Amino acid sequence: MTDSSYQSALLAASNLAPSHYISGLEGGPEFLDAVLTLAKALKNTPNFKELTPLNGKILTALFMNPSLRTRTSFEVGMKHLGGHMVVLEPGASSWAIEYTRGAVMDQGCAEHIIEAAGVLSGYSDLLALRAFSAMQDFDSEMKDVPIKALAEHSSVPVISLESAMWHPCQALADALTLHEHMEANAQPLAGKKFTLTWAKHPRMCGVAVPQSTLLMATRLGMDVTLAHPKEYALHPEVMQMARESAKHTGGSLTLSEDIDEACQGADVIYAKAWGAPCDYGNAAHGSERNMSYDNWIVDEHKLAQAQFMHCLPVRRNVVVTDSVLDGPQSLVQHQANNRLWAQMALMLAMTPT
Ligand code: CP
Repeated sequence: MTDSSYQSALLAASNLAPSHYISGLEGGPEFLDAVLTLAKALKNTPNFKELTPLNGKILTALFMNPSLRTRTSFEVGMKHLGGHMVVLEPGASSWAIEYTRGAVMDQGCAEHIIEAAGVLSGYSDLLALRAFSAMQDFDSEMKDVPIKALAEHSSVPVISLESAMWHPCQALADALTLHEHMEANAQPLAGKKFTLTWAKHPRMCGVAVPQSTLLMATRLGMDVTLAHPKEYALHPEVMQMARESAKHTGGSLTLSEDIDEACQGADVIYAKAWGAPCDYGNAAHGSERNMSYDNWIVDEHKLAQAQFMHCLPVRRNVVVTDSVLDGPQSLVQHQANNRLWAQMALMLAMTPT
């Protein structure tokens, strides 16, 4: 790939860029394809750092929750592109932020997102926010009030770094990983069996990763099996979107409550723990329920010939065994590395010129 391939991929992705990137569905399949093409072009442009295409550009990222991969890959990516990332941790090193319109702010939050978004978008070319589910009320938290409020009151593009509902940048990197893995083996993604399985975990985790993963795999036209114990259903709107997406791309979506059956014949097994909607507001009960499903761990027997994927961080020997994670079929480091390339492509496409 030459500099001109990179320049044409950049132009194509920039022309298709949506106002914000919150669900990962913005811009449709055309934008997804354009960002993946740009990420691959960047990888094939050895001198891309010298081009400093985001010279002087500022990304301000608000982290309401911890992060290793997302924070580091965005910060390193922005540096590689010639720009700079400012990190804020509301409630710790910056003021705690209220997101609800009409709130009476007589408790802990000193700042409302209306002012914060206006101020920060005056200083920045891009804004980003990580705001997980508080795991208290499934239905209300799936409305994703914080990231939508930031987008509503920002005058610059907003990228989600994971919300209660979605983790779009993880899904983008995972799509790039699947593309590259199948291209390296000269095989199409369409028709490959992709099993997304729930796994046990000592804590309740959000549904953002499995929901984004489900949509991503159906958008790629794969034959997707979603496996989880019956209490762990994903959001009904996401399930409907996944069914429609599979129909549109020629893939399929199958549900299972049996991890062994779901893993049989899989080309890819993606494991993730998440909390049961009925346990929101009761973390102790949720943890106990999670750990009661003893067989829901990916081991060598379930893996068989499949590739293994997980977004990380992962609980070794709870979600997946050491032998799978450290074995040659594990793609987890490839996925994490691709966060950098996919997000550089996304920032390039979305930063106003
Ligand atoms: N996968 C992922 O988002 O990792 P972090 O929580 O470390 O950012």
